Amino acid sequence: MSDNLHQLRCFGCGARIAGAEAQPDFRCAACGDLFEVEFPGWAERRGPERPNPGALKWLWRERRCSGEALDQSGVWRFRELLPILESFGNAVTLREGNTPLYHLPRTAQSLGVDQLFAKHQGMNPTGSFKDTGMTAALSVARERGFKWVACASTGNTSAAMAAYAARAGLRSLVLIPEGKIAWGKLSQAMDYGALTCQLKTDFDGCVRVLTEIVRQAPIYLLNSVNPYRLEGQKTPAFEIAETFDWNVPDHLIVPGGNLANSSALGKGFRELKELGLVARLPRISVIQAEGANPLVRSLAVHRGESLQPVEAHTRASAIRIGNPASWRKAARVIQETCGWCLDVSEAEIAVAKAEIGAEGLGCEPASAVTLAGLKKLRAQGSIAASDTVVLLLTGHTLKDADYTIDFHRGTLLSAEETGGPASKISAEIEGLRRNAVVVDAAAPAVLAALKGQLA
Ligand code: F0G
Repeated sequence: MSDNLHQLRCFGCGARIAGAEAQPDFRCAACGDLFEVEFPGWAERRGPERPNPGALKWLWRERRCSGEALDQSGVWRFRELLPILESFGNAVTLREGNTPLYHLPRTAQSLGVDQLFAKHQGMNPTGSFKDTGMTAALSVARERGFKWVACASTGNTSAAMAAYAARAGLRSLVLIPEGKIAWGKLSQAMDYGALTCQLKTDFDGCVRVLTEIVRQAPIYLLNSVNPYRLEGQKTPAFEIAETFDWNVPDHLIVPGGNLANSSALGKGFRELKELGLVARLPRISVIQAEGANPLVRSLAVHRGESLQPVEAHTRASAIRIGNPASWRKAARVIQETCGWCLDVSEAEIAVAKAEIGAEGLGCEPASAVTLAGLKKLRAQGSIAASDTVVLLLTGHTLKDADYTIDFHRGTLLSAEETGGPASKISAEIEGLRRNAVVVDAAAPAVLAALKGQLA
């Protein structure tokens, strides 16, 4: 293995082990905490051996014009910062990454922010940000000779894992909470040929069961406790920096579920700064749903030093997680970048999602917490009008079409959640709803439906 190039460092006690020595559940044998991938050679590279930043930036951009599969991947084109494989020939890629950064002009104007962008990770091959992490960790599984891979999931991880496993010719086992994931995601796991088990529990219960399974069977765990996932998920930080010509935005706002993604993006920006590729870090803020907000509570009540699991409830099913594995890593990212951690209500998520839809982009509900969070941060004066803000949209709008249809039909939210028909948020919802209408198959009927709107 490429242990000469990387090692694993325990986030809790600092113990260092070779990559291949990790336990099947990726927990530290000494203290039970999670590992981070570390590149020992980089310490010297901060000195005279420092890579030439200009040459790397040129090489990474140049690869976008290449016909080679690895160069076309938005993860592996940054492979100088991903020495996790013995041979890059073992990489399994669906040409993930290289996702667009869209301007959000209408939303920017209504919030009074000059520069507002969405980095749309839903534009990945399986429709979510999970592909960037999966290409990295599944490639390690293949290189280490595993025949089976597995994950517990709220849907997107399982879709990504099933696709990448199928490409690599590996079998995959998916554990999902019965009735609690969006149909689009479940259909993907089936389509890509996973063995899909729906368990009568929640996501946190699926994680518990899977941890026991990987201790007993030769199955490679692909949940985000696997530190190689985070190596792939750090690369959107490189893309964002590249798009801003290696000047980072002032703020990056990320949804929080199991809290690996915020950790990974923080690691990505930290490494760029350590290697002299960018001058500073953006503030990274994490937004959770009110009913699934263990990190918000941890930071508010325990300064991020301990975390009390909650029983999670939110319609943003991707982030319905009460006991997030990577909370310590995420807390560090928020604290070291001076970001914020907030929660938002079900009605706020629904409105934000419709606004992102009205920009012609769309996203799944969990992604929309970023805009709902930005509105709060703007209202409390934490973000200035002159700041550059990037929202990280994590999933494609078609992942959870039921949610969108229920919103536009007016059946999504209860009166309690909206504060009743006279509330401010109910008025916002009415302004955004675009329910489909049934009309006769005749031009006059369709023109009547258009009445008053053409001007
Ligand atoms: N957004 C979407 C669309 C997700 O699917 C997830 C997590 C998150 C945000 C939160 O990211 O967990 O790194 O904080 N989905 C996982 C899954 C848990 O199983 O698909 P996180």
